[in-house]
Amino acid sequence: MQIIITGAAGFIGSNLAARLLNEGYSVVGIDNFSYGKHENLRFLLKHKNFSFIEGDLLHESVYEQLKGDVIIHLASQKIPRYSSASKTLQDNSRILSFIIDKCKKDNQRLLYASTSDIYGKNPDTPYHEESNIVLGPPTIKRWAYALSKIYGEQLIMANHQDFNLQFTIFRLFGSYGPNQNTTWWGGPQAVFIQNILEGKPLEIHGDGLQTRTFTYIDDTIEGIFHCLKDPRAQNEIFNIAGNPEEEISIISLAKKIWYQMKGLNSFPQIAFIPYTSFGNYEDVKKRVPCINKIMKFGYRPQWTLDKGLEKTIEWQISRNKYCRA
Ligand SMILES: NC(=O)c1ccc[n+]([C@@H]2O[C@H](COP(=O)([O-])OP(=O)(O)OC[C@H]3O[C@@H](n4cnc5c(N)ncnc54)[C@H](O)[C@@H]3O)[C@@H](O)[C@H]2O)c1
Repeated sequence: MQIIITGAAGFIGSNLAARLLNEGYSVVGIDNFSYGKHENLRFLLKHKNFSFIEGDLLHESVYEQLKGDVIIHLASQKIPRYSSASKTLQDNSRILSFIIDKCKKDNQRLLYASTSDIYGKNPDTPYHEESNIVLGPPTIKRWAYALSKIYGEQLIMANHQDFNLQFTIFRLFGSYGPNQNTTWWGGPQAVFIQNILEGKPLEIHGDGLQTRTFTYIDDTIEGIFHCLKDPRAQNEIFNIAGNPEEEISIISLAKKIWYQMKGLNSFPQIAFIPYTSFGNYEDVKKRVPCINKIMKFGYRPQWTLDKGLEKTIEWQISRNKYCRA
């Protein structure tokens, strides 16, 4: 079976491609390197069953080159903290329309990466797949990302109803690990590790009391793999997350990483960055997943936060050395 991965040079795309190649699939990856990295493709490009297209999914002409049975659509704009909300809204919807048209034309199944951000600030946790969506007002640009993914999910469901598009939607909760972008585009772990490696204080947005439940990349990939291979996942929506009991505040996460890297006798240096520094922003205070649905299909998160952070720190230290060399 041949799988197409959009965003293959990105964090999840490169890890997913490696796993699928190991499982015996052929993989066609596409990326425009807007956020992805050449170094993430280093090992993949040596594999005989991997082919790569450098191309922009906003250009309709690239789609002719994407030959395969399933499209795993990961390429995306994310929360516009430091980027443009109009790009998030326009790119995400335009590209998904092209992808859906292609799936319908070539009879391809679509696996779509959605996000825990779509639950917004619903105070009723844990979030299960049928939970309500509670977003803030359009004056706050962070919601552009959630909105683009909600639109994406609705568009897929509508095309399923009208044209029998075959799909699986997976909503990811804070994935982290090797190949992650080491700026805020990637996530807090990568930023905190990078802050420490560069001798800077830990950069906390807001008061740091907001909580999250994170997922080590190997668990994320295992969840996506379940969505791909289990026939019962056809036309369903799943949360994919780490252990919900490992909910942690951002400030505790920052300190945990600091102590893991600098030792328990050191004193964490912290810089609080007000939300106002990146425009009109609103954070989600608490985010906890319910993963019972995917667990019924045999998925179990295997990685504790401590173990995942250890691997991530190891990778980021070696990456820094490699990038300087
Ligand atoms: N990482 C997480 O924790 C997380 C959480 C929730 C949802 N998701 C979703 O998972 C998916 C993958 O996330 P990621 O963390 O790997 O992001 P990423 O930014 O590392 O990877 C996305 C890739 O898409 C590529 N891309 C973007 N626009 C493109 C275009 N027009 N043409 C071609 N390539 C393009 C980028 O260059 C990048 O390599 C996204 O859809 C994201 O919304 C991720």
